[in-house]
Amino acid sequence: MGKTANQNEASPSEQKFRRIFEDSMDGLILWNENYQIVDINCAAVRIFDLPIERLLGKSILDIFSKIEDKKQEIINHIEQVNNKGKKHSSMVIKWYDGSVKHFDYSTKHGIIDGMNLTVIIDVTEKAEMQEQLRKSDRLNIVGELAAGIAHEIRNPMTALKGFIQLLEPSIKAQHSLYYDVITSELARIDSIINEFLILAKPQEIRFLEKDVCQIMRETVELLSAQAVLFNVQFETHYENNLPLVYCEPNQLKKVFINLIKNAIEVMSDGGKITVSIKSVDDQYLQISIQDEGIGIPKDKIRKLGEPFYTTKEKGTGLGLMVSYRIIEEHNGHIQIESEEGIGTTFQLILPIRTIDN
Ligand SMILES: Nc1ncnc2c1ncn2[C@@H]1O[C@H](COP(=O)(O)OP(=O)(O)O)[C@@H](O)[C@H]1O
Ligand SMILES: [Mg+2]
Repeated sequence: MGKTANQNEASPSEQKFRRIFEDSMDGLILWNENYQIVDINCAAVRIFDLPIERLLGKSILDIFSKIEDKKQEIINHIEQVNNKGKKHSSMVIKWYDGSVKHFDYSTKHGIIDGMNLTVIIDVTEKAEMQEQLRKSDRLNIVGELAAGIAHEIRNPMTALKGFIQLLEPSIKAQHSLYYDVITSELARIDSIINEFLILAKPQEIRFLEKDVCQIMRETVELLSAQAVLFNVQFETHYENNLPLVYCEPNQLKKVFINLIKNAIEVMSDGGKITVSIKSVDDQYLQISIQDEGIGIPKDKIRKLGEPFYTTKEKGTGLGLMVSYRIIEEHNGHIQIESEEGIGTTFQLILPIRTIDN
């Protein structure tokens, strides 16, 4: 069509629309019922970074012929266009040089008889900016503090481990038991520090399908030393065969740590923390953390999650705020039930599959 339009003497109105098509900042592709590209503007050619001969007259299914899974995405997109008349999609493409591009594209069926129009926009900059925002947001104050402290402890720890090793022959002879306790406790501190560094380190946010019970087991294990110190026991109930949940595991772990730490801290005389995980209607995961602590007065419950709200002498009032935010990012929510003098239950409701992006 593009060729015939050029061959014939175009009317002023045709010329006007030709200009609009050519100069549009968005990529425009006109294709026919045989999926053949009939016309394509400069912006679209630039996006594909291919000579125009490789595009014009070719099948839109072959644009990404080298990237098999992209071909499938395009086929799905076209199926929807055929069924519903239009479709919006987005695509992430890793180019051969390793750079990553993000595109939004939408197609309208039968825009002029037998022709379909696809509009394609490069949204890489926007996507990168959003990712950066998420990253800076994620490395929250608590994380930074934990990372800082972990680093500070790590250096003297290295010295301690080194010198203890040097002393081994002379100590072991007389105080073998003490020596073993010291080295195993040092190893334990080391693993806790590493855990903190992993949690706090800025990492790519990656939602993955994960076993939430496993994340919870690791958390309970991590906090078991602190629990012993407070004379607190754990009781855990994990439903069998729970589905995997689409989540960011390190972030979820952060939430579990915050809630379990709070539970430990409100039981000054010791007690039991009951952790249970079960599924509701195969749609949600219900994670509950129940303590036998002092409880929360009714009028204070709504203050939970406000930044810097704390009733502890050395509290930061940040743990719950961070936790609420993380759970929101998972499209979940937190419910609290509490009775003064009896205890508190924090319930996390997490959707098993649905996540916006
Ligand atoms: N399990 C709980 N039982 C009773 N009160 C709680 C519990 N969890 C949180 N709170 C209340 O919420 C406040 C805020 O908690 P958090 O945001 O973790 O900050 P912090 O632990 O530093 O005080 C706590 O100071 C406490 O008053
Ligand atoms: Mg706390």
